[in-house]
Amino acid sequence: MIRVKIPATSANLGPGFDCLGLALQLYNSITIETDRPFQISLTGSYCNGIPANENNLIWKTMCHFWELIHFPTPSVALTFENHIPPARGLGSSSAAIVGGLVAANTLAGSPYSKYELLQVANSIEGHPDNVTPALYGGVTLSVPIEGGILPRVLGLLPNLKAVVIIPDTVLNTEKARGILPPQVPRSDAVFNISHVGLLIEAFIREDYALLKEGMRDALHQNQRAALIPGLLETLEAALQAGAYGSALSGSGPTLLSLIPEGLQEEVCHSMITKINQYGIRAQAIVLDIDTDGATSSTIL
Ligand code: HSE
Repeated sequence: MIRVKIPATSANLGPGFDCLGLALQLYNSITIETDRPFQISLTGSYCNGIPANENNLIWKTMCHFWELIHFPTPSVALTFENHIPPARGLGSSSAAIVGGLVAANTLAGSPYSKYELLQVANSIEGHPDNVTPALYGGVTLSVPIEGGILPRVLGLLPNLKAVVIIPDTVLNTEKARGILPPQVPRSDAVFNISHVGLLIEAFIREDYALLKEGMRDALHQNQRAALIPGLLETLEAALQAGAYGSALSGSGPTLLSLIPEGLQEEVCHSMITKINQYGIRAQAIVLDIDTDGATSSTIL
């Protein structure tokens, strides 16, 4: 029996649109029993609307990988345990793609390296900012290079906690990308380039006082506030409560704050109170940073 565990991820971290992300200690898992009739079982907190048949994204990704390496599709029974809320900006589809690839690769005897799996994952997902931390763990930078993505792990953030505010409502990534203008003013581009530089310094030096400014953005958060009432005000409330920095998680609607140990209650309370004022119900969870990325183990 093979078990693959894949972390949730939060992309962008403010200015790092489509290139920065981090992994969180909230997991989906895939269990594979070989030499069994084909079957998909779903368990965990989020099963509604997820197909338990050949149209399942994890299964489709596994088949895609086996086709790529000319490996005959084995007969397997699969159990998918879902704890990452879907369509909330916490990388659930990247977790499905990365999980499917790691599972299929393990079953085939691990012919692909992590770097090679990243290239396949990126070609399926279309943007690498969730798949890179889902594979590598920690906070990652994905650099588009000729022929693929160069992944860099910037740090493992041992002394940071993440407050994750998850609204009851879902937001489709395509819709949240669709409202962004195709071109950006040069001044906004300069703002984000310089802020990503500052953010990288903050992570590499573990100088988290730099996060407050470093996580500010000009390319997408203001625009997306039209889809998520109270977005900017709730991020500001987190800073007022002592968070190091705060940002929209991926394309939303989840909000992320990075905080020092001990401030969980204040930051959760402050963010939930503020977002409630805008008529949005949400739950707050506090998570540590995942440092391993997707892992696979064989259970005898
Ligand atoms: N970076 C993407 C976006 C989401 O903000 O649209 C995750 O890939």
